[in-house]
Amino acid sequence: MNDTNLRSDPSLALPAVVITGGTEGIGRALAEEFARDGHNLVLVARDKAKLDRTAAELASAYAVEVKVTAQDLTTAEGCAGVEQAVRGFGFYADVLVNNAGVMASGFFQDADPAAMRRMIDLDVRAVVDLTSRFLPGMLARGRGGVLNVVIHGGFHAGAVSGGLCRVQGLRAVFLQGARLRDHGAPG
Ligand SMILES: NC(=O)c1ccc[n+]([C@@H]2O[C@H](COP(=O)([O-])OP(=O)(O)OC[C@H]3O[C@@H](n4cnc5c(N)ncnc54)[C@H](OP(=O)(O)O)[C@@H]3O)[C@@H](O)[C@H]2O)c1
Repeated sequence: MNDTNLRSDPSLALPAVVITGGTEGIGRALAEEFARDGHNLVLVARDKAKLDRTAAELASAYAVEVKVTAQDLTTAEGCAGVEQAVRGFGFYADVLVNNAGVMASGFFQDADPAAMRRMIDLDVRAVVDLTSRFLPGMLARGRGGVLNVVIHGGFHAGAVSGGLCRVQGLRAVFLQGARLRDHGAPG
């Protein structure tokens, strides 16, 4: 019986930091920081080979468990798959890092509508979906955290990159809402 099987009883589950987009850029850097601090990780992205490579590098550098799950977070199935994977690994989400996001630039009227829908699905819908899956457990345990990575321009929507900024602004506002609820404020 391996560690995962031993922890199939939810009461034996271990804490982990779940990082979306943990293979590149800011997400990869955050994964490194959490691993350095001794946190087990679950990394989420679409490219399984890159996930496996990142996990191997982090697990060899730090004494933590690094698990991966290949999911497309623009889909409802991908978000559900993250929750299933975390449970299957014998973990619970102690911290959720909503990092995966796409950048866009230019004027709204020039943007490809399908690309805009994918951006909203990843930058907003997946953030709300994953947070609603993991936040209740954090509140029940009385500990945990949700970190939403947003571009600073999300607070200051402009004409250029307006689509991106406004979408990431929704992410920023959603984070504030989650924090208020955590402190017992209404709504
Ligand atoms: N770069 C900047 O200047 C900057 C500045 C401020 C804030 N931000 C924000 O910070 C976050 C990270 O930016 P970054 O530039 O570090 O990102 P990045 O280097 O482009 O990496 C994106 C990560 O997200 C994953 N990803 C992309 N689409 C996905 C999908 N549909 N489902 C699951 N995973 C997906 C990618 O892996 P796969 O391709 O394998 O899926 C990769 O791991 C974004 O939300 C961005 O808006 C960026």
